[in-house]
Amino acid sequence: MRLLALSGSLRARSSNGAVLRSALALWDGPTATADIGALPHFNPDLDGEDATPPASVAALRTAVATSDALLLVSPEYAHGVPGVLKNALDWLVSSGECVHKPTAVITASPFPTGGDHANAQLREILRMMTGEVVTAACREIPAIGPKIDPTTERVTDETTLADLDVALTQLATAVTATATALTSEQH
Ligand SMILES: Cc1cc2nc3c(=O)[nH]c(=O)nc-3n(C[C@H](O)[C@H](O)[C@H](O)COP(=O)(O)O)c2cc1C
Repeated sequence: MRLLALSGSLRARSSNGAVLRSALALWDGPTATADIGALPHFNPDLDGEDATPPASVAALRTAVATSDALLLVSPEYAHGVPGVLKNALDWLVSSGECVHKPTAVITASPFPTGGDHANAQLREILRMMTGEVVTAACREIPAIGPKIDPTTERVTDETTLADLDVALTQLATAVTATATALTSEQH
């Protein structure tokens, strides 16, 4: 079961990056992280019937298509989804790789709100894309700062780690359930 992660933060010492790495370490199977910082701004003119999408876009689409599940880990900026992550999702709307893809959304913030606005917006965007948002695998992590070891840049808070483990188990369960449902639909 292959898990692909996308981060909404480009910051070198990102707290969401630390959450992402800690979550991937808990996944039982191969993992990868998509490089969405290099994507061009979404432009439908580059993506029409007569256009060849940019190589970075094609690589993202292949990475999503060949993954069994997606993990979005993101901060919230101005009560919204970071532009870099919305841009990546915009490139995936028409091409359809997210359709029925089990997806978990995790937001982490230094504030008590845990990035709740961005979390809700990401789930709504994914639903519009006919992705399968696995609600039981979504998390809003408040007050993230002291939950991370700045040296290892990993989550060290035991409660948060245990909860991330539960979330990823829920995501894996959804992958199995979705595969079973899609197979029985085809028969
Ligand atoms: C321009 C800007 C806007 C922000 N807006 C919010 C916000 O609306 N809600 C929130 O929880 N945090 C907000 N923050 C704080 C970020 O959550 C914080 O900088 C966080 O560390 C960014 O995530 P990262 O560590 O993964 O890069 C904002 C930060 C910046 C720089």
